Amino acid sequence: MKNNLSNIKKAIKYLNNNHCVAIPTETVYGLAANAYSNRATKKIFKLKRRPKNNPLIVHYDSLEKLMNDCEVNELFFKLFKKFSPGPISYVLRLKKNSKISKNVTNGKKTLAVRFPSHGITRNLLKKINYPLAAPSANISNRISPVTAQDVFDELGNKVKYILEGGKCKIGLESTIVNLTDKPNILRLGGIPKNKISKFFNSKEDLTKKSKVITPGMGKSHYSPNIPIRLNISKPKKNEAFLLIQKKNKKGKNYFYLSKNRNLAEVGKNLYKTLRNIKKKGFASIAVEKIPNHGIGETINDRLIRAAKKL
Ligand code: TXA
Ligand code: MG
Repeated sequence: MKNNLSNIKKAIKYLNNNHCVAIPTETVYGLAANAYSNRATKKIFKLKRRPKNNPLIVHYDSLEKLMNDCEVNELFFKLFKKFSPGPISYVLRLKKNSKISKNVTNGKKTLAVRFPSHGITRNLLKKINYPLAAPSANISNRISPVTAQDVFDELGNKVKYILEGGKCKIGLESTIVNLTDKPNILRLGGIPKNKISKFFNSKEDLTKKSKVITPGMGKSHYSPNIPIRLNISKPKKNEAFLLIQKKNKKGKNYFYLSKNRNLAEVGKNLYKTLRNIKKKGFASIAVEKIPNHGIGETINDRLIRAAKKL
């Protein structure tokens, strides 16, 4: 992308002055602020209309910097080596002398951390001496943005600067793995569940946990605010129809997430397509059945939440 460096410099100027800046990642765009600053992190909650009790993920470019803030162990290093940088977040114990703002953790003793692989944001992180707290850059409970334009459509001029980084490659949020207890998955995401299970050599369902400790994973989420019906083979008249493979029948209401059942492509196109459908004014959405394996499990998780009434 042209002019990367001058854009990164501009973003840093705003961040250094305790403003929020939208940043591209391989999963979705984030609304970033200095994680060590109370003033800056407070603005994230206001801008997104996010409840204060919902903690933020903090983004780093190196283990050295992370170790200022979190306790780490062998298991974490192994996971890190396998999956980071990339679409995975780890919940770790916060160090007593960490400078992370209490707004980020809501006063809790744990911290969710992530190492994004997007080149522009990695460059930015390398140039600053504080990590970035960044939730997805949408109004709370709505669909995450996967382009700079989506961020603008969500937040408008309220965000001081949007760092352009193209369309997000994965298009679904990171997988969240809790390492503060017996390891478990708190949120399905960009790394498919079967890959994590394989890593842990686990036959158990790693998403099953009695205690829900992820406040932001309410049942209704990622919602375009339009009724959604899942596993549909025939849409109603004038209903938007999301497809994952080529059909003979055509219609203005047909939207292809993929033409050949490529699930990575379906994931990448999902949020953008839901946004487009909303813009076009459809009153309801039908979705073709999506295979529930690999990244398909994450896609179905998001669709089920999006289909729940607010
Ligand atoms: O891909 C992603 O993870 C994106 C990009 C921008 O990095 N970020 C993202 O953040 O999806 P957000 O805030 O939209 O979702 C973070 C989720 C929330 O459900 C929150 O409750 C949970 O992570 N979370 C954050 N800190 C936590 C902690 N210490 N313990 C448990 N859950 C935590
Ligand atoms: Mg979010």
